[in-house]
Amino acid sequence: GDTRHYKFDIQMKNVRRLCHTKSMVTVNGKFPGPRIVAREGDRVVIQVVNNVPNNISIHWHGIRQLRSGWADGPAYVTQCPIQTGQSYVYNFTVIGQRGTLFWHAHISWLRSTVYGPLIILPKKGVPYPFAKPYKEVPIIFGEWFSGDPEAIISQALQTGGGPNVSDAYTINGLPGPLYNCSTKDTFKLKVKPGKTYLLRLINAALNEDLFFSIANHSLTVVEADAIYVKPFKTDTILLTPGQTTNLLLETKSQFPGANFLMAAGPYVTGLGTFDNSTVSGILEYELPSKSNHHSTKKLPLFKPNLPAINDTSFVTNFTSKIRSLATPQFPANVPQNVDKHFFFTIGLGTTPCDHQNKTSCQGPNGTKFSASVNNISFVQPNTALLQAHYSGQSNRVYRPDFPMSPLQWFNYTGTPPNNTMTSNGTKLVVLPFNTSVEVIMQDTSILGAESHPLHLHGFNFFVVGQGFGNFDAKQDPKNFNLVDPIERNTVGVPSGGWVAIRFLADNPGVWFMHCHLEVHTSWGLKMAWLVLDGKLPNQKLLPPPADLPKC
Ligand code: C2O
Repeated sequence: GDTRHYKFDIQMKNVRRLCHTKSMVTVNGKFPGPRIVAREGDRVVIQVVNNVPNNISIHWHGIRQLRSGWADGPAYVTQCPIQTGQSYVYNFTVIGQRGTLFWHAHISWLRSTVYGPLIILPKKGVPYPFAKPYKEVPIIFGEWFSGDPEAIISQALQTGGGPNVSDAYTINGLPGPLYNCSTKDTFKLKVKPGKTYLLRLINAALNEDLFFSIANHSLTVVEADAIYVKPFKTDTILLTPGQTTNLLLETKSQFPGANFLMAAGPYVTGLGTFDNSTVSGILEYELPSKSNHHSTKKLPLFKPNLPAINDTSFVTNFTSKIRSLATPQFPANVPQNVDKHFFFTIGLGTTPCDHQNKTSCQGPNGTKFSASVNNISFVQPNTALLQAHYSGQSNRVYRPDFPMSPLQWFNYTGTPPNNTMTSNGTKLVVLPFNTSVEVIMQDTSILGAESHPLHLHGFNFFVVGQGFGNFDAKQDPKNFNLVDPIERNTVGVPSGGWVAIRFLADNPGVWFMHCHLEVHTSWGLKMAWLVLDGKLPNQKLLPPPADLPKC
């Protein structure tokens, strides 16, 4: 493969949206940030230089980072943050992957403005397993806060309540005509009639799952989280934060000069407050050649219908259609046997409030909100886990005893228990190289059920099962799909239900797993896996780069 060099200059930039200008953290002064394009097999080298007052780190979301865990990016997990005035070179090779992914800041809430597409093309001369598109278009969803998102989160963490919701959703950084003062900030996709377009969709929003639809056009899903899927047609798709998907859009032949609205709006299962606004963009058909220009009159703008904000049956039906291609060229290597079974409860709880600070806490009964896995709310260490492991300093930084199942059984989706308190800890699961892992992720209703998009670093996993209510360890595994389940890096654990995932721990390093709703991550819905080196030289983590930041 080739080597692709990029430079990310982290700098402040004034950006104006919704009639309000704010100074915010950007990459190279761009919002959204620059597009990274590579081919499968290429080495990607990105020099990140921090010229803002904030600490920064960048994560290449969905890149497996085989043996190159030092380049993964989550702050205090694989690296210390890059401090003001310092730089770090992320250096990794894209092995066995192609498709749409993205990159984003992985510290505090900086990913609200620091994100961009990461596109991996197939190796030269290798075609897509679908018709060659006429054009490819990245469509990246985000959330816009008129205030400073860093201030919003620190205020929320102090009072222990939900943060202010965003002021708009965006498509490629633009809110579109359904918001005040935004008509000129509208994403326009100009198309020719009778062609096929490949839309590369990314949900980079902080806290909301999003539906997406284009008026009067059906969409063919061909890829999810950079894995080819069995193509299927749909009018609407759902993406959780952290998920990506590729769609084929066939333009019609009979609509010269017509405009169609594309729109995205939230899917919400929880109680709290949320931004229920709609971002829109315009699919604009080019006019026919000048000769018959006068004969075409402009057609009205067509609007799409999005599902109801709480339409779980649409979501369940949609996600059940997503299957791996599972062909000899693109096999689904589902682990057929499991070495270690894990059962993780995923949900919200409470934690004591710091009344000494005289903050009024917004959680139930004078507590703060908290979120946990197996009732452990993850406490961020003050040095990076991977560095601590590698340098043999682990016992003062983390404990290797993250529980394989909840310490106390309860009716996860039934009546909430009396005690909603979570405990705190910096714990991880240690796995020998090549362990075959199954994790049941059970959503809990301790403080009201809510779906959680769980994201795993360093691996793709197969979603072998999903259901509602409490997981039944005797019956449910009989229905697992071990043939063509979707392989992905982020899965929505349904509100009041569970998912079962499997993966092979063939990548040494420390790998973060967390809810990709930023507010839940901040509340502690995260944990980490430590995968040990294998015996062979090519099964070991590479040594750390010389410029790895220090804490
Ligand atoms: Cu896209 Cu750990 O995140």
